[in-house]
Amino acid sequence: MHQFTKTLVTTALPYANGPVHLGHLAGVYLPADIYVRYKRLKGEDIIHIGGSDEHGVPITITAEKEGISPRDVVDRYHQMNMAAFSKCGISFDYYGRTTSELHHKTAQEFFLDIEEKGIFQRKSEKLFFDRKADRFLSDRYVTGTCPICNNTEANGDQCEQCGTHLSPLELINPKSKLSDATPELRETMHWYFPLGRFQQQLENYVQEHEEEWRQNVVNYSRTWLNQGLKDRAITRDLGWGIKVPLESQEALGKVLYVWFDAVLGYISFTREWAAALGQSERWKEYWQNPECRLVQFIGKDNVVFHTLMLPAILMAWNEGRQSGCYNLADNVPASEFMNFEGRKFSKSRNYAIYLGEFLEKFPADTLRYSIAMNYPENKDTDFSWVDFQNRTNGELADTLGNFIKRSVDFTNSKFGGVVPIDCPPDVIKSFTVIQTHGNDDLIDELGNRVDLDDLVDEIGEAYEHFHFREAVSKTMDIARKANRFLTQNEPWKLIKSDRDAAAKIMSVSLNLCHTLALLFYPVIPETSNRIHAMLGFAGTIESLIKPGVSLWEQAKRPGLNMGHRLRETSEILFTKIEESDIAPELAKIEGLLADAVKREAGVEQQKMEFKPLISFDDFLKVDLRVARVISAEKVNKAAKLLKLQLQVGSVTKQVLAGIAKHYTPEEMVGKNVLIVANLADRTIRDEVSEGMILAVEGADGKLFVIEPQGNEINGRLIQ
Ligand code: 2FM
Ligand code: ZN
Repeated sequence: MHQFTKTLVTTALPYANGPVHLGHLAGVYLPADIYVRYKRLKGEDIIHIGGSDEHGVPITITAEKEGISPRDVVDRYHQMNMAAFSKCGISFDYYGRTTSELHHKTAQEFFLDIEEKGIFQRKSEKLFFDRKADRFLSDRYVTGTCPICNNTEANGDQCEQCGTHLSPLELINPKSKLSDATPELRETMHWYFPLGRFQQQLENYVQEHEEEWRQNVVNYSRTWLNQGLKDRAITRDLGWGIKVPLESQEALGKVLYVWFDAVLGYISFTREWAAALGQSERWKEYWQNPECRLVQFIGKDNVVFHTLMLPAILMAWNEGRQSGCYNLADNVPASEFMNFEGRKFSKSRNYAIYLGEFLEKFPADTLRYSIAMNYPENKDTDFSWVDFQNRTNGELADTLGNFIKRSVDFTNSKFGGVVPIDCPPDVIKSFTVIQTHGNDDLIDELGNRVDLDDLVDEIGEAYEHFHFREAVSKTMDIARKANRFLTQNEPWKLIKSDRDAAAKIMSVSLNLCHTLALLFYPVIPETSNRIHAMLGFAGTIESLIKPGVSLWEQAKRPGLNMGHRLRETSEILFTKIEESDIAPELAKIEGLLADAVKREAGVEQQKMEFKPLISFDDFLKVDLRVARVISAEKVNKAAKLLKLQLQVGSVTKQVLAGIAKHYTPEEMVGKNVLIVANLADRTIRDEVSEGMILAVEGADGKLFVIEPQGNEINGRLIQ
């Protein structure tokens, strides 16, 4: 294992075209912050760099929709997101913006270096051009009918309804989103990054990390590698972005593709961080130092940009250099998605809880805790209001909050607010101190099996390996044990007969409060500071953090000596969430869900607008046949598509159908289906589709293929 002396943590740069929601928080920013805070507690050298992705089509589309400039859009959402993160306790060392001068300069330097090495290729291609708007249309600016599911509002890059990745040229009836005009094809030249040139190096890179990277990260990367890496255009014809830094005519009106630009933001922002400290070269200690570990937190939709695209750009830069080489990521902990009340967050459909809004109603730490306990590490998880309420009330308030308050209050009322005796280290280690009540079983149950050192080490290990749910739930287990320790030893009764024994219990309890303040710091930092203050310490936990000093280790030892004075007043750490607090939220969800269901079921079609009439002869042109499915399989990168081989009479046909979310391949094999047999071939995802399967949509959006009855299948149908 490589020994690292520093860590650079980066978090995906959210597009500054809308507010961040809880899904973003859960997948990327909270886990990163927890990790960074844990490492800081250990006294390690770590920085967290993030910022806004302020270029790209999502921004210009929002600007056009709202009739404002892209600059207005990014100014608004950069501020809004930065404020929400700050309120949530996400402790960036620097939060930059890709519109900054230094970022433009950095990205242009990379472009020029790679251009001068002759690595880029130039290719001319035909792209859609909107004559009215006088602009080339990037994928997302084209809309039209999806060739797979006939959704009339498919985007040029993907159909939201069936999930198929598309190119604008595949759309039926393409339209420009700018003017509604039918775009025309025009030739334009672009710079391409030949990812394939780095195929071998990238394969080695992924293989070196395959053991420690998450399965989803390895899988996404391998899928791309196995398909053979293709050239990727890294410029666009757009007005908003980083100009291609060449004087030539051909560079006119071209900007760097947002993904080439954004991934370099991590570097620019680290440079800006260093400059802001007045140590302008210090960024190199993090980027150009093999002893620094780069950890990049992202969501699963961004994997290949971080495991293939950015590494390839850095490999291109590093090529032929003796010094000034960049580190590649050591780990890319990509999360799965966190859903919201059983459904995907969707900004475009406003089905989301935005971070800023949430924090106007509930404290950051309650959110941080609930989300950490639902961290989507290996599979998608769900945020629900009821779960949030249960965790806040049952775990934070009744367990942690209750334990701390009872410990402090009892000491204040019965021991004059001071730690009555020293707590020997081996006592806190096992929670076994008291020979009370002669009830040794109880003590054994509480104490002998508990080893605080081991628990703290296990939690630390879980953080080191990005197992956030495990770490946080084990931390809560300690609080649970501590709470039970206090309850079952009943110092309030004991004090009447044996004041010394009660003093010992309180000494252990108070020291456990101190331990818990430290252990909970990564996940609920504000609460930890409040506990720390209640225990009578003047400064915050942050003020104790020093390079090389591990406060984490200190959590294993008693932190409060005999005579240490607590603060006179205690406080309730968590207010319970009442039904009435979440009722409006639940009502809101119901409305949103009803809308979503309606939309998905196409209830809007109730208007019953039929397509224009066709003649009987037109209808007879459609050759409907019954076919039997002989085999079926999934299609790469098209989550909703199945590829079916059909027997139609004596002929076999291959048909792609957007039904993968409704039928497994196994369920389809052997079925009789109804197909349009004389539809012109279409190529989708490099696969030919030679027909179309007929299906109907149920009220909840579920698809049912039409299954003609009868055993004799001759492929003929009576029209
Ligand atoms: O998916 C997104 O929101 C992108 N803006 C993420 C960019 S990550 C990195 F490249 F900066
Ligand atoms: Zn579709």
